Amino acid sequence: MKRALVTGAAGFIPSHLCDFLLDRGYEVIGLDNFVTGRRSNLEAALKRGMKLIEHNIIDPIPESLVTGQIDEIYNMASPASPVDFAKMPLFILETAARGHRHLLDLGRRTGARVLFASTSEVYGDPEVHPQVESYFGNVNSVGVRSCYDEAKRYGEALTVAYTREHRLETRIARIFNTYGSRMRPDDGRIIPNFFMQALQGQPLTVYGEGSQTRSFCYVSDQVEGLYKLMTSSETRPVNIGNPIERTVLKIANEINALCGSRVPLRNLPLPENDPKQRKPDISRAASSIGWVPRVDLETGLRECLSYFREELKRAPGGIVTPTA
Ligand SMILES: NC(=O)c1ccc[n+]([C@@H]2O[C@H](COP(=O)([O-])OP(=O)(O)OC[C@H]3O[C@@H](n4cnc5c(N)ncnc54)[C@H](O)[C@@H]3O)[C@@H](O)[C@H]2O)c1
Repeated sequence: MKRALVTGAAGFIPSHLCDFLLDRGYEVIGLDNFVTGRRSNLEAALKRGMKLIEHNIIDPIPESLVTGQIDEIYNMASPASPVDFAKMPLFILETAARGHRHLLDLGRRTGARVLFASTSEVYGDPEVHPQVESYFGNVNSVGVRSCYDEAKRYGEALTVAYTREHRLETRIARIFNTYGSRMRPDDGRIIPNFFMQALQGQPLTVYGEGSQTRSFCYVSDQVEGLYKLMTSSETRPVNIGNPIERTVLKIANEINALCGSRVPLRNLPLPENDPKQRKPDISRAASSIGWVPRVDLETGLRECLSYFREELKRAPGGIVTPTA
């Protein structure tokens, strides 16, 4: 039986990854400090015997905390929403710097392969479209998003430096916008915002004219991509995302229709350095790890609808959707 450690386990994508690995017969250890994660995301995994460690990866990981052999470490821990960028920029930087270093050290100690959850944000507001892994990006190092973008760029640099110096097995996943159940309904990202607003009869917040594009990957596709990357021999960074691109306006209209709402749109100014276009080139993922996404947006959004309806039922006072 393989043993995997998933950091950030109580978060949106990582909690689905824990379920995915349990389905494949792994022994899974989850680690989280619950800064943005929710214990309820792990209800099913904990019932299936997943071990959970409460720890902040910015602090060193004592040897007694994670014992025995580990085969794979998925370092998924990091706040990831623009709302978090404003609230805890230093925490985000330290999580990718000191935090990731601690996971690399743990990988070296246990002989595990370490995957770093990077992001499409390393491309910043891209001037190359679609974004291919060889593109170096266009990031404003002093903008409001820099705590996240530069943190992840540093995390990638740390991963390759560590690999060169210590011959550790590492993987870098550049994750593009992902959606699905277990997203926090109030985390300010586009999909939860639109659903919560439409379901509560409030205008949908669209930044600018809504002509900026995003490409959304359903979470089950995303975790399969992460797993395939981890278990492949590909050591270069790999984009994991869905290349079907839509304008934000089109997504707003689709969610409005799906919720049976006819709420108006409310246009707000574009946030600083908001990427105008985003679409992954996934040729490398297809050819070297054998992965392509399978779930189309319509199917994924329908799955989300029941999830967000339940979330709303559990919040009798309603859910406030933050705006950037
Ligand atoms: N969701 C996306 O579209 C997306 C896109 C690109 C990259 N990513 C990356 O994927 C990973 C998961 O993202 P998500 O959307 O599921 O976010 P999330 O906030 O739901 O999950 C992150 C988890 O990490 C935990 N965490 C954060 N800092 C920690 C620390 N210092 N120590 C221990 N635990 C910590 C949080 O409590 C949370 O449970 C992140 O690394 C994120 O940067 C996500």
